[in-house]
Formats: sequence, structure tokens, C-alpha cells
Amino acid sequence: MLRPRRLRRTAALRDLVRETALDVRDFIYPLFITERTGAREEIASMPGIYRHGLDRLEEELAEIAALGLRAVLLFGLPAHKDAVGSAAWAEDGVIQRAVRRIKAAQPEMLVVTDVCLCEYTSHGHCGVVRGTEILNDETLPLLARTALSHAAAGADVVAPSDMMDGRVAAIRAALDERGFTDTALMAYSVKYASAYYGPFREAADGAPQFGDRRTYQMDPANAREALREIALDTAEGADMIIVKPALAYLDVLRAAREYTVLPLAAYNVSGEYALLKAAGRLGWIDEESVMLENLLAMKRAGADILISYHAKEAARLLRERL
Ligand code: PBG
Ligand code: ZN
Repeated sequence: MLRPRRLRRTAALRDLVRETALDVRDFIYPLFITERTGAREEIASMPGIYRHGLDRLEEELAEIAALGLRAVLLFGLPAHKDAVGSAAWAEDGVIQRAVRRIKAAQPEMLVVTDVCLCEYTSHGHCGVVRGTEILNDETLPLLARTALSHAAAGADVVAPSDMMDGRVAAIRAALDERGFTDTALMAYSVKYASAYYGPFREAADGAPQFGDRRTYQMDPANAREALREIALDTAEGADMIIVKPALAYLDVLRAAREYTVLPLAAYNVSGEYALLKAAGRLGWIDEESVMLENLLAMKRAGADILISYHAKEAARLLRERL
């Protein structure tokens, strides 16, 4: 008789035949950085996640590095916003300063920067606005300028999350032209117009002040379109691809895995984190186990890289369970 249970009999057997594993080296930990001196402000809907003051980055980075994490993804909260988001590319902007500080304190830490305008624009959209329209081509030079300023500050990887058409090509060309040929580009190629970003918008103060993002982010009903976005970003020069959100889009992640040979990241977004924390706090689930199961599911679906607010907790647990 055929008995799959034979291979589940002991822990050693189960370990031997396991197909997927979490690895601390695969994580990217997102960080919210503010210009408010001394800040360490917990985000209400994301327990355990803070906005860190620039002057307190070193202590946080030391903790991250001590856990064995090797990559961070930076989001900035500027002191001032305007119609075009000019603080996004300011030489002394919050991200530019943060990158320099992190590279000074932890030169080995891989620094990825989110490239977008929504945290820097007064209207909260990811591009230039005319009336109620989000202008595509007018936005491209601003994104390129922002990415360039991150690279100049020392970022290893720039990650455009705006969803304007042609931005990967525009950023790649700008980087190459200025000699930043080794700055890698991780594109949020497959980014849905998702309600799961709610807590993030509180954290990063980047909620659109009118309308929504459905004219630029993808329709959650579409999966084939994800492959088209990947094809375009690949042709434009993306080095790595992000699928976002993760858990409600594991089918898309799997399809992306089969479609591209590029390294693939799953972005385990803020709303996914918030749901788990809420249920955990209520005592309705075993939070740690569900967290590890979720992260494992993203790997199993095809992700090489996990961008997750759980990275620190996961790193701690992986160490304990070894
Ligand atoms: C900015 C950006 C967002 C996220 C990453 N970059 C928000 C949005 O597009 O509205 C979401 C991250 C998360 O929810 O964890 N464009
Ligand atoms: Zn944005």
C-alpha cells in the first residue's frame, strides 16, 4: 500500500523531505523614518512597528543586524509636503540622510529605498496631479530624480512603487547616465489597488486626499495582466520583481514564478500584518505559528525574497527553533 504517512513519522524524516524553508537571509525589513528628532512612535494599527527618528536609526539598525537580518526597505516621512513632492529628491531629504547614516553605521546592510511621491505630495497621490488626473509622463522625471538622489546617497537598490508606465526605463536611464550602473532596480511590477495598504498609509502618512489609486495600481480581479507588467518592467531593465500584496495573491505569485527567471519578492503588506496582530491580541489564533505559516506559504508559492514587517520576529523564532 502507498502510505505518504511513512515520511511524516518522525521529525528527522519530516525535516529530510521538507520542500521549502524560511531563511533569515531572504528577508527585507521595512522601516519608517521621520525627521522628528528622538521619535520612536508606534503605529496604532501595526503593533511592534515604529516610526524611527533619523537620530535613532543606529540603535534600530544594530538590533536588526544582531538578529541576522541583512536588508532594509526605507520609507520616509518628510517634514514638508508640496504639490510635486519635492522633498522626495531633496539632497538633505529624510531618505537621503537616512541612507547615509545607515551606510556609515552598518556598511554591510543592504539598503533598498522605496521610490514614490505619495509620502511627499500634499495630495497624497503617487504622481503629478492635474485636476483629478494623475499624470504619467510628467511624473517620470520626478521619479528618476528621486531614485538618482537615493543612489547618490548610497542606496544599493531602488524600488519604484508608483505604478506609472515607463518608470523603470526612465529610472534605469537616469542611473546609467550618471554612472550609477551598479545600483539595482527592484520593481513593484505587480502592485494591486488594494485595501490591504490601509495601515501603511497611516504609518507613512500617504493616503490620497481625493479619489483612489485605481487609475494606476492594478485591478485585483486581474492575474494575466500581472505577467504583462512583469514583461514590460523586465524589458525596461528591472533586476528583481515584487508582487504585492502577498497572501490574497499567492496565485499571482505562483504565475509570476513560472513566468520570470528574475528574483521574485513577495510583499507581505501592512494590512496582512495588522490582521494577524489583531487576531493574536484577541487570543483567537496562535500568532507565531500563523505568522510562520503565512511566510512559508509565500516561499512555497514562489517568492525568493520576503518583504515583511514580521522579519524581526521571524528572525528571532528561526534562531530559537534551530
Ligand atoms: C507607496 C507604497 C505603498 C505601499 C508601499 N509603497 C502604499 C500605497 O501604494 O498606497 C504599501 C505597503 C504596505 O501596505 O505595507 N506607493
Ligand atoms: Zn506611492
